[in-house]
Amino acid sequence: MLLQQVHIENFSELKDIRIENATFTAIEAHLEPQAGEEVIDLAGKLVIPPFVDPHVHLDSTMTAGDPEWNESGTLFDGIRIWSERKKTLTHADVKQRAIAALRLQASNGLQFVRSHVDVTDPDLTALKALIEVREEVKDWMTLQLVAFPQEGILSFPHGKELMIEVAELGVDAIGAIPHFEFTREYSVESLHFAFEVAQKYNLLIDAHTDEIDDPASRGLETMATLALESGLKEKVTASHTTAMGSYNDAYVYKLMRLLKMSDINFVANPLINMYLGGRFDTYPKRRGLTRVKELDANGINVAFGEDDIKDPWYPMGNGNMLDSLHMGLHATQIMGYSEILNSYRFITHNGAKVMHVTDQYGIEVGKPANLLVFNAPDFYTTLNERDEMLYSIHNGHILVSTKPAKKYLHF
Ligand code: FE2
Repeated sequence: MLLQQVHIENFSELKDIRIENATFTAIEAHLEPQAGEEVIDLAGKLVIPPFVDPHVHLDSTMTAGDPEWNESGTLFDGIRIWSERKKTLTHADVKQRAIAALRLQASNGLQFVRSHVDVTDPDLTALKALIEVREEVKDWMTLQLVAFPQEGILSFPHGKELMIEVAELGVDAIGAIPHFEFTREYSVESLHFAFEVAQKYNLLIDAHTDEIDDPASRGLETMATLALESGLKEKVTASHTTAMGSYNDAYVYKLMRLLKMSDINFVANPLINMYLGGRFDTYPKRRGLTRVKELDANGINVAFGEDDIKDPWYPMGNGNMLDSLHMGLHATQIMGYSEILNSYRFITHNGAKVMHVTDQYGIEVGKPANLLVFNAPDFYTTLNERDEMLYSIHNGHILVSTKPAKKYLHF
């Protein structure tokens, strides 16, 4: 396959891209078509690597309103409603909803997804179903699973035993939820335990960390210290860290040194953080996000996730990373022209780093032929105008194609 005349990642000069045997084999200013080669003339369109969602919950997806809508909009009512819905989970129910959500995500250019899966369920119904889903979708979606103890490790009966059981069942990463544990002591112990399990089973770590507007919630410093001292470093991800948006500046100044030393990744979930954050404030009302701009400026890897697609924690969601990005840029005021132009990295390269898949990710000769083509010359225009994704190409095959709709103005 030969893709002709594209702007790769906003680069002003046009290039041709050759794909053979599912791999990028040449990227040059001009390549002659070979006999029998499929040629797509893209005349000045934008090409970027596929979208990555490093944080979504596929076990709860598509359950909004069942058994009740989260009318208060708080994280804690979300957890309460989910614990009711969890009682009616079946293997087939989880698989059907997860695959529907993944198809929706793929239709919007996602090719890499990391799903947290609630494992505070003695039957592990959702996890067993999603392990099957991970295998069934592998030809069109790289899916990672995180063992997520929604109701705590120390604060849930037999929580530690469950985490060991799921590590043996075959998850990709170990999670934690330090801010939800009953006490500060449980919070710290749960993180030590998660690191021990990750090291023993050679797994990544991705913990829901300080997802609360409480400046006293300081699981992050424990995470970063353990990442540094264990050597796991960039294999560790702190998701949410919304309390950091409420920390005082003197503490953050001290913390930032540790965060840089630790090499950990961050995932912010702008749609959900804005929806759930500041719920207990009157006014001034806090934004629900972590300090994305400051972390990024300090060279720390931050990616954006979707978190929830129509579930007890978020009534909306359409599987489109451009929505997360659009919200994230506004909420964190990352809106200089060049910042917007290059913001695709929050939902591409930075997410690939979180998922630890950079060796198979990116538009470079020798790497798997995965890319997206947009109906615009650059990413600023793509995001602002929401121009169509013309193609999602995965391992050299067209996974998704779009025929732009035509609009008629009758005035
Ligand atoms: Fe989450």
